[in-house]
Amino acid sequence: MLRVGIIGCGKITERASLPNLVNYKDKAKVTCLCDIIKSKAEYLSKKFELGSPDIVTDWKALVKRHDVDVVFVNTPNYLHEDMAVGAARNKKHVLVEKPISISVKAADNMVKAANKNKVLLMVEQTQRFDPVHQAAKKIIDSGVLGRIHNIRGRIGHAGPEYWSEGKSHWFYDKKKSGGGCMIDIGVHIADLVRWFKGKKVTEVFATIQTLEKKLPVDDNATVLLRFEDGTKGEFECSWTTRPYEVLTYVYGEKGKLITSIGSKQPVTLSLVNTVSGADPNNAVKEECPKLGPGNGWENAVHYFIDCVIKGKKPFISGEEGRETIKVILAAYESKRTGKWVKIKK
Ligand SMILES: NC(=O)c1ccc[n+]([C@@H]2O[C@H](COP(=O)([O-])OP(=O)(O)OC[C@H]3O[C@@H](n4cnc5c(N)ncnc54)[C@H](O)[C@@H]3O)[C@@H](O)[C@H]2O)c1
Repeated sequence: MLRVGIIGCGKITERASLPNLVNYKDKAKVTCLCDIIKSKAEYLSKKFELGSPDIVTDWKALVKRHDVDVVFVNTPNYLHEDMAVGAARNKKHVLVEKPISISVKAADNMVKAANKNKVLLMVEQTQRFDPVHQAAKKIIDSGVLGRIHNIRGRIGHAGPEYWSEGKSHWFYDKKKSGGGCMIDIGVHIADLVRWFKGKKVTEVFATIQTLEKKLPVDDNATVLLRFEDGTKGEFECSWTTRPYEVLTYVYGEKGKLITSIGSKQPVTLSLVNTVSGADPNNAVKEECPKLGPGNGWENAVHYFIDCVIKGKKPFISGEEGRETIKVILAAYESKRTGKWVKIKK
């Protein structure tokens, strides 16, 4: 039985962490909740009938506790570094929300602290855990598409004002969030595209704009990618897309794979006949694989708990989260310079 402490009792804790800890109660128990607004922690404790976890307002007290084995860092992005490093130094395993951090240096510090203290650090890039994307990744890795030349992804929703509190919220304060839709949800699709492709991104070029909302941060972005194997990719993110969507297109020598979260046919694999003389414009095989159980949030929380119990390094480790944030920060630099930006090793 793992004992869990959660820092930050806002929306992600209410919608993702607690429901999926409560339904995993044979393996995990919440022993401490922390929020600077005590009533938020009290509200969630009551709502999820947690019994009597301790409630604190100082995260430094939570990470020191002897009745906490793992810490969920569910606070605004700029706080992730200090809290994850503090938890690791106190020998707690850490599940940190996406994005890992708002700078590469911060991500480096988090990875170093986890490795030095021999604790696990996982970044909650939940798109990787959606059954749709799990099925797609299996198909890609099976090699049926042949060499993948091009991969595209798009994520969009109506904006954080329909998720969390109003317009004065931290999501729109660059110092606290690190930017707008690019860092908020671009990080999801950049990570997914990187994971599907399984190669490092070496260069990016971005157009990043505020098209509709009266905000000091971006609400739309398009990013072109070059991968280490010379192939290309791109992703788009948007806070002005209604209804919510997550789409990917994976183009290989032998066919294509399309995923679309929420659609009736969320994964479609189309293969062509590659025998010489056959018309490659006609699909000879169309497949829609059966999807696994759960959803992205549930599968991510359960996977992390299982990793800690088994002492297994998560496949979306701190190092992986750092690779993704490098892409996002390079895209912002491309916007500033108007040029392709190389991603440092
Ligand atoms: N994986 C996903 O799908 C997903 C979805 C939404 C948000 N997120 C991420 O989750 C994190 C939190 O986002 P949210 O939507 O829950 O935000 P939120 O504003 O709803 O909640 C943040 C909470 O942190 C608390 N807090 C702020 N400073 C604190 C401090 N010093 N100590 C303790 N608590 C503090 C706030 O009072 C608030 O209750 C962000 O990093 C965000 O990017 C992930």
